[in-house]
Amino acid sequence: MDFELSEEQLAVRDAARDFARTELLPGVIERDEKQQFPAEQIRKMGELGFMGMMVDPKYNGGGMDSISYVLAMEEISKIDSSCSVSMSVNNSLVCWGLEKYGTEEQKEKYLKRLATGEIIGAFCLSEPEAGSDATSQRTTAEDKGDYYLLNGTKNWITNGNSASVYIVMAQTHPEEGHKGINALIVEKDMEGFVVGKKEDKLGIRGSDTHSLMFQDVKVPKENRIGEDGFGFSFAMSTLNGGRIGIAAQALGIASGAYELALQYSKERKAFGKEISRHQAIQFKLADMATNIEAARMLIYKAAFLKDAKKDFAEASAMAKLFASQVAMDTTIEAVQIHGGYGYVKEYHVERLMRDAKITQIYEGTSEIQKIVISRHQLTK
Ligand code: CAA
Repeated sequence: MDFELSEEQLAVRDAARDFARTELLPGVIERDEKQQFPAEQIRKMGELGFMGMMVDPKYNGGGMDSISYVLAMEEISKIDSSCSVSMSVNNSLVCWGLEKYGTEEQKEKYLKRLATGEIIGAFCLSEPEAGSDATSQRTTAEDKGDYYLLNGTKNWITNGNSASVYIVMAQTHPEEGHKGINALIVEKDMEGFVVGKKEDKLGIRGSDTHSLMFQDVKVPKENRIGEDGFGFSFAMSTLNGGRIGIAAQALGIASGAYELALQYSKERKAFGKEISRHQAIQFKLADMATNIEAARMLIYKAAFLKDAKKDFAEASAMAKLFASQVAMDTTIEAVQIHGGYGYVKEYHVERLMRDAKITQIYEGTSEIQKIVISRHQLTK
């Protein structure tokens, strides 16, 4: 077993680290406060190849492995998770799903532009009454011969207003349950598609999360991904990879908070010495560092299995479950180590603590990850 990263992987990590420090750090507090979508920053991420990292170069992607993607996600999430969530959805849910299951025409028309970040995509599964219970889709896609008539509402959609292309899951054959669901590619300017209200969130406040309404939207048949009824399998399979991305985001939030706390503990003095010389702080730092390393190993394993084309559903659920808990625990401790300074915006750790919470909720709550893991354990 080789734990060394390759030269190429290290170069990707360093490029993402430099970009995050020079381009994302200035303004991150203001974007969070004003709930400002980081459009300019995401455009630059596209230029640097971060929006379609794993896509085959023949579709304008970076042709990189999942470990490189995880490394870049960690670095960008250390500074700005509002950027990394757009990156994660575009790479893992939209580009990966289209490349794996789309037709050649769909790849030419959509993937090539998504992979460069010229346009970005959104993944639309959650509904007002179908979040964790994703099989209960109320959005309908009525088969009208050469098109689907799409009606319904989607909730909590990342890139909700800034995307140009939306992959929408909708029920075509209700009598067949989840086997009647289709995944359709919807363009923002299709008639009857309305972007609804923007959510005012606790964390990842720069990210634009919206509800979406579809009122008699005519979606051409050639925009269906896969066979009739493949939509739920498409969503689950795509989310397995998405969960590696969100686990890496959680890792970045944790390691970003840890680095700030470590640095602060070496500068701040109390009771006549740096607080890092007090055992109470040393024990916290040791626990934080150990948990972060354990999360990193679970994530690398899931990414390795994905690249090796082995089943990675359980590994990605374990990685997300554990890393998101580590993000929460580590950011809380980082605020504690900073004392009063940790509670004010200028020191960044309070934002990281707010951002951490969503990693336990989106792309499947922690409870959903436990369902996925336990089902694998029970059927082994
Ligand atoms: N990988 C592959 N297939 C899976 C799967 C997985 N992880 N989980 C379930 N499936 C398959 C099952 O094998 C089954 O297939 P068959 O019918 O062919 O046997 C099918 O899906 C239905 O599964 P269940 O019978 O287990 O259905 P269930 O209702 O009991 O449970 C669930 C399904 C696992 C709870 C699923 O609904 C789920 O994962 N829910 C969470 C949805 C989610 O993650 N939403 C996130 C929204 S996207 C988002 O957040 C993006 C963003 O903007 C950031």
